[in-house]
Amino acid sequence: AAEDGSQAWLRYAPVVQGEISTFSPTSIIALNTSEISPVYAARQELQKGIRGMLGVQLGFNSTKNASAIIVGTVEAYKAKYGDLGEQEQLVDDGFYLNSQGRNVLIIGQNERGALYGAFEYLSRLAQGNFGPVSSISNPHAPIRWANEWNNLDGTIERGYAGPSIFFEGGFVKENLTRVAEYARLLASVRINAVVVNNVNANPTLLSARNIEGLGRLADVMRPYGVQLGIALNFAAPQTFGQLDTFDPLDPKVDAWWGNNTDQIYARVPDMAGYLIKANSEGQPGPLTYNRTLAEGANMFARAVAKYGGVVMFRAFVYDNKLNPAIWKADRANAAFEFFRHLDGKFDENVVVQIKYGPIDFQVREPASPLFSALRQTNTAIELQITQEYLGHQTHLVYLSPLWKEILDFDLRADNKSSQVKDIVSGKRFKRSLGGFAGVVNVGTNTNWLGHHLAMSNLYAYGMMAWDPSVDPETILQDWARLTFGSDRAVLDTITSMSMSSWPAYENYTGNLGIQTLTDILYTHFGPNPASQDNNGWGQWTRANKKSLGMDRTVRNGTGNAGQYPPEIAQMYENTESTPDNLLLWFHHVPYTHRLKSGETVIQHFYDAHYAGAAVAQEFVKQWESLKGKIDEQRYQEVLFRQEFHAGHALVWRDSINQFYYNLSEIPDEAKRVGIH
Ligand code: GCU
Repeated sequence: AAEDGSQAWLRYAPVVQGEISTFSPTSIIALNTSEISPVYAARQELQKGIRGMLGVQLGFNSTKNASAIIVGTVEAYKAKYGDLGEQEQLVDDGFYLNSQGRNVLIIGQNERGALYGAFEYLSRLAQGNFGPVSSISNPHAPIRWANEWNNLDGTIERGYAGPSIFFEGGFVKENLTRVAEYARLLASVRINAVVVNNVNANPTLLSARNIEGLGRLADVMRPYGVQLGIALNFAAPQTFGQLDTFDPLDPKVDAWWGNNTDQIYARVPDMAGYLIKANSEGQPGPLTYNRTLAEGANMFARAVAKYGGVVMFRAFVYDNKLNPAIWKADRANAAFEFFRHLDGKFDENVVVQIKYGPIDFQVREPASPLFSALRQTNTAIELQITQEYLGHQTHLVYLSPLWKEILDFDLRADNKSSQVKDIVSGKRFKRSLGGFAGVVNVGTNTNWLGHHLAMSNLYAYGMMAWDPSVDPETILQDWARLTFGSDRAVLDTITSMSMSSWPAYENYTGNLGIQTLTDILYTHFGPNPASQDNNGWGQWTRANKKSLGMDRTVRNGTGNAGQYPPEIAQMYENTESTPDNLLLWFHHVPYTHRLKSGETVIQHFYDAHYAGAAVAQEFVKQWESLKGKIDEQRYQEVLFRQEFHAGHALVWRDSINQFYYNLSEIPDEAKRVGIH
């Protein structure tokens, strides 16, 4: 097989380890056999996978013989064989896997669950795991979506792997082969819906030709249990329809959306729902008419409710023309201020989609305080797989550890355990809906994200949305074995590189919570600390000759620390109790301020940048040690990326250090910075 990365972690390469001889099934029995059923896809996948890995061609059967793999839903199993015994514990999308008896049972609560179970079984075999298993696996949350910021012209906002697989020239593409392949990948990590177009949405998505195209998209993804979602433009009734308004409380507007929704559902009866970015970064929204964001969200919710659809309404609402002269102005306050008083005002099928931190996917942010403030509202966390601020996939940055810190963070709402993961699952505040949205932005590049190693982030995203308690290193190693095989050196090297990659990136970019320090005005790539301040975007660092950092205290600053529940607010209010890695997020301090380590802020900057860049240099050597141990094509392609990464890390190191040296004129104790 060509090792171009198109199969990602679903290669089904010949298995050379494990008790292969104990593999006994001779046929596959699929209990639901409609061609558009995920169970059908499961059957095909089992046959293909086992042929690839073990060289055994399993036939399809309808009756049990010596030993079979039986795959299907609980209901279909019961109808054919009677009680299963285990089904009570299964929830939607969950599966039961049992290989202890003569037959291998892969039983899903629904058809999608059966497919997930098949992928799980194949993943075990691919990793040489032939031992008997009996397990129930249920999702942590029902919403596990991918967001793709694809424009209808085929470009992708913040996409770094070529043009769109979904759209071209204003319409849905004719050839959707890659979309089907993508749906397969997503299903294998248990993602159940994809919003295919940009949150900065083009209203012409609603044209008759595009609705037909959306139907074709849904058709190719449906066999994998991946539902279609779309992002809408709030002003569409006016800019695309012929109405003179888009006021959500105007009955004409309401009817217009109802009508358009009916037309979409007529073509896509199982559409997952809508994603809405309103009144943010120049996008239209209900505030234009003095209506609340909830009134705006509920308009869409009414339209999709009868179809079981949901509305993901983004909390990323802020004023991008903030006045930097105002010390207490703070973009980080925006989401909380806009949404807190709307708690309880959203319909039951609305989910407020909240970026993990209060600003925008920075290398280090505290968890958004909004998670603890919405208690009678469904919420989801928005993560980014595409590395917008994190090197555009030219830098290796394994993100699962970052996500884990946020998901595990305990916001202490009402002084009780309130981990972000339990809030978005709906458990903490007893909500019926909730979950995860991940901005992926795959493109037409054969390897999907432009960098083979970046695919660990997509894999980890799905697996963590399914079960956030999993250890980032464990998921990484599963992904690495599936992607590159089980050679110990390959595994150890990829593990060591990936696990040190986020800390390294943080070290050579923006430390101590100052934010990533990329250019923020346009590219979001490469060092540009000067671009942060003195503009309306509000990603300020307030760096001057003597001091830097955002004062977000209640006492003297923007009051942002006070948006957290009391125990957390108190921790962030004081420099002594704020963790060093968020010091400059919450406090404005002199360059000479001493960290808990005893080092000054400025010396830490200098040292961390040298340390981080040095780690990135090692990645090249580490990767080179794998020559001959993996296929040449992927070896070379990754090497090319790592060489760029190493060089760019030096650019980062020197740019940032020089910038703060010029500003503060404080020499580096180790005499590396500012000496020519
Ligand atoms: C960031 C990103 C934009 C995107 C926006 C959003 O600001 O740079 O490209 O549209 O987030 O999430 O809506």
